[in-house]
Amino acid sequence: MSGTGPEETSPYGSGSAAPRPQEATATPRRVRIPHLHEMKARGQRWAMLTAYDMYAAEIFDEAGIPVLLVGDSAGNNVYGYETTVPVTLEEMVPLVRAVATATRRALVVADLPFGSYGASVEQGFASAVRLMKEGRAHAVKLEGGAAMVPLVRALTGAGIPVMAHLGFTPQSEHQLGGYRVQGRGDAADALVADALALQGAGAFSVVLEMVPAPVAERVTKELDIPTIGIGAGAGTDAQVLVWSDFAGLRSGRSPRFVKKYADLRGTLLDAARAYAADVESGAFPDAGHSFES
Ligand code: KIV
Repeated sequence: MSGTGPEETSPYGSGSAAPRPQEATATPRRVRIPHLHEMKARGQRWAMLTAYDMYAAEIFDEAGIPVLLVGDSAGNNVYGYETTVPVTLEEMVPLVRAVATATRRALVVADLPFGSYGASVEQGFASAVRLMKEGRAHAVKLEGGAAMVPLVRALTGAGIPVMAHLGFTPQSEHQLGGYRVQGRGDAADALVADALALQGAGAFSVVLEMVPAPVAERVTKELDIPTIGIGAGAGTDAQVLVWSDFAGLRSGRSPRFVKKYADLRGTLLDAARAYAADVESGAFPDAGHSFES
């Protein structure tokens, strides 16, 4: 690379030729589906986070988060859409590849976006294969109950692990009439039946979104596979949060089930304002950030 002095690291960060800090350490063991089942058997709870890019994936992997989900929540968190509905497979694949390439330990699950699997088993199979081959995902996630059983059978039969998603399923928000808790009252039995059907078809885990805590606990007790809750109380085997929510990047009100573990929005606002002020005053760049002739 011409113009790069020996004392300089790549200006483009660790995505280019610069070695990553973890490369000095031994390769950690990749989290596999049997590990998640062992954790359920031991009663060991675990955390899942979404990730959509290399740096977030690297950081969460280093923090020991065992499962990273490249969710179609990329619609609201990367692409600026109001819902997940417009997200396409073409938009998912590069995000999945970035996350899968950046992780050394985490199991990477990729969401099948709306419209990429609902038409037929053949359509869903072809879409899942793209997420595995082009995105290098280790598993796929899909939304829906017993109607998804034939697709889940076909995928798992072909070696593609499937995470199911029940309760509030954002891809169906127009059908469900908006963000509403699902599985209340009489609907609880149907939710349990869906979960059992998906487990029977070979799903390795089930996300339960916006489900009353006692119902999520009941599903968790009835299933052998792990349940992953979001707005489903403390009785599930695992929890998931959207990373921009948990890190405080989003503006405005968060859903009730989100706990903020950082204020990245505030930190970045302060940093951007300080940088702009330094440029305006001439304090940046100083001699320490300039090259001599
Ligand atoms: O897309 C997503 O991020 C999800 C999680 C909220 C489970 O489906």
